[in-house]
Amino acid sequence: MSDAVVLKEITKRYNDVTAVKSASFSASKGEVFGLLGPSGSGKSTLLRIIDLLEAPDSGEIQINGEDVRTDSKEAFQARRRIGMVLQKPVVLNRSVENNLAYALTIRGWSEKETQKRVDRELKRLGLEGRREKNARTLSGGEMQRLCFARSTVFDPDLLLLDEFTANLDPANVALLEDMVRSYASENENRAVIVVTHNLFQAKRMCHRIALMWDGRIVEVADRKRFFEAPEDERTAAFVSGELVY
Ligand SMILES: Nc1ncnc2c1ncn2[C@@H]1O[C@H](COP(=O)(O)OP(=O)(O)OP(=O)(O)O)[C@@H](O)[C@H]1O
Ligand SMILES: [Mg+2]
Repeated sequence: MSDAVVLKEITKRYNDVTAVKSASFSASKGEVFGLLGPSGSGKSTLLRIIDLLEAPDSGEIQINGEDVRTDSKEAFQARRRIGMVLQKPVVLNRSVENNLAYALTIRGWSEKETQKRVDRELKRLGLEGRREKNARTLSGGEMQRLCFARSTVFDPDLLLLDEFTANLDPANVALLEDMVRSYASENENRAVIVVTHNLFQAKRMCHRIALMWDGRIVEVADRKRFFEAPEDERTAAFVSGELVY
């Protein structure tokens, strides 16, 4: 399996806080990779760095085998192939349909292609009846489904999820997790990185999991080993729920 993302010794400081400390890992194409760890351990910071939104102070990032520097032309191109979904849904003050269409038109899709794809997505989301509605009037679960669709409608190679189902009801959690699974299995060139606090979600979704602790990646293991036979004592404490976070 080839690498979708390779991080080499990424470090990021904010004034006196070092949020990420020499973090390295690789996520492969075809894989759902989990990033777990206590609050404040640097997960979201690392995800923003992978999204090429924020530049690390040092270290290297490769996406699909290419070195990318955050402020480069390559990064701009690479960003167009990355989708990111955050905990809190953020939608445009426009119709549901326009929220989806916008993600395609800014990426150069024609009007015809856009319309076709938007129709397909609305059906898939179960939001056909809401297409003309202002996205801001949707329920929390509907809004997050729309955000998910907006981040995947353009067929990104890499999907980044940061606590994307926190605060949702179990039915919407199940729906969204299913959407991630189909996204990942539809095309073998795709990779997903999921940041979550939720051990059960990691168990349900991830092939491999990394534990992040005080800015460092302390262990990377396949799901079974991560939960059943972790090597690092911090992973053992984390998966047994001994840690308060
Ligand atoms: N923009 C910023 N400016 C200053 N400090 C920041 C910034 N972003 C993150 N930090 C700090 O970096 C550390 C890691 O934060 P981060 O949000 O990456 O953690 P996290 O693992 O995502 O936590 P949580 O699980 O609570 O979301 C924290 O100490 C945080 O206060
Ligand atoms: Mg976070």
